[in-house]
Amino acid sequence: MATAARWLGEGACIGMPTETVYGLAANALDAAAVTRIFAAKNRPYFDPLIVHVPDLATVDQLVQAFPAALADLAQRYWPGPLTLLLPKREVVPDLVTAGLPRVGIRMPAHPVAQALLKATHFPLAAPSANPFGYISPTTSAHVYAQLQGKIPYILEGGPCTVGVESTIVGWEDGQAALYRYGGISVEAIEAVVGPLRLCLNESSNPAAPGMLTTHYAPRKPLYLGEIGALGAQFMTQKVGILAFGTLPELPSPYAVYSLSETGNLAEAAQRLFTGLRTLDGAEVDVILAQPVPNVGLGRAINDRLRRASA
Ligand code: TXA
Ligand code: MG
Repeated sequence: MATAARWLGEGACIGMPTETVYGLAANALDAAAVTRIFAAKNRPYFDPLIVHVPDLATVDQLVQAFPAALADLAQRYWPGPLTLLLPKREVVPDLVTAGLPRVGIRMPAHPVAQALLKATHFPLAAPSANPFGYISPTTSAHVYAQLQGKIPYILEGGPCTVGVESTIVGWEDGQAALYRYGGISVEAIEAVVGPLRLCLNESSNPAAPGMLTTHYAPRKPLYLGEIGALGAQFMTQKVGILAFGTLPELPSPYAVYSLSETGNLAEAAQRLFTGLRTLDGAEVDVILAQPVPNVGLGRAINDRLRRASA
């Protein structure tokens, strides 16, 4: 912890655990440090970063206003996998928000992340610690495999328990708006703030950047659909299957990674990115995946699978 805090204090960017995915963290208030995040990730500057805070007092230093409905959400789901878009103060570098007027703020629940935030005395900007467009990391080994040589340090926190990124929520024209499906379900958000306006950008020049159609993508082609039909279509190729629940009879698949044999969506979310990486690294030509039930965390899983297949 002391070593990690020292690197951050010197303006470096390092790998850090959170309950959703591993992040690539740097001092959010130091534009030079933040630049190193973009360089290590090969991330375009139009894609803004989420700022991680230890407590609500830090939020007050970073934002001008906190709409009551979003404060209710923070009260209910922080610390946790929820990011709120709030009007930023000048102290937040424009680099962090890609020039946008709002800053994404999240209070992570992972105890190692919380301890690190307390040790640094400044908020941490941190995107997921993967090369831009690739699968997000849910273990320190994932981070090491892709960013070794580019960052000086990774703080170990064990495998991530949630496994998909935070849900992103903002406030527009008197209504709560959803920008990304994530670790807190739509149902759980709507229980607090009422019906959400969906602002899930799908274009390549999005108003809420980063929600590009192609994202979270393995290097192998991924096809999303009904496994039985897809399996028949790709019979002559080496096939990797990302399974959910029990599998239909198939012509000898080459590799199977089960997200959850019992059909548990939380378990499937937790295993999703490891499953994609495992099949991407296996000796297969194509990856086949099926959509999971589109409820609760299933929406976040289906969203990532759609982007992985685009
Ligand atoms: O769970 C998470 O949110 C993880 C962990 C590390 O906290 N972080 C994460 O960061 O997923 P990243 O950079 O992979 O995704 C952040 C996305 C951006 O691509 C963008 O879509 C949205 O959050 N975002 C961040 N700040 C924003 C802003 N000011 N306005 C609009 N969208 C914003
Ligand atoms: Mg990301």
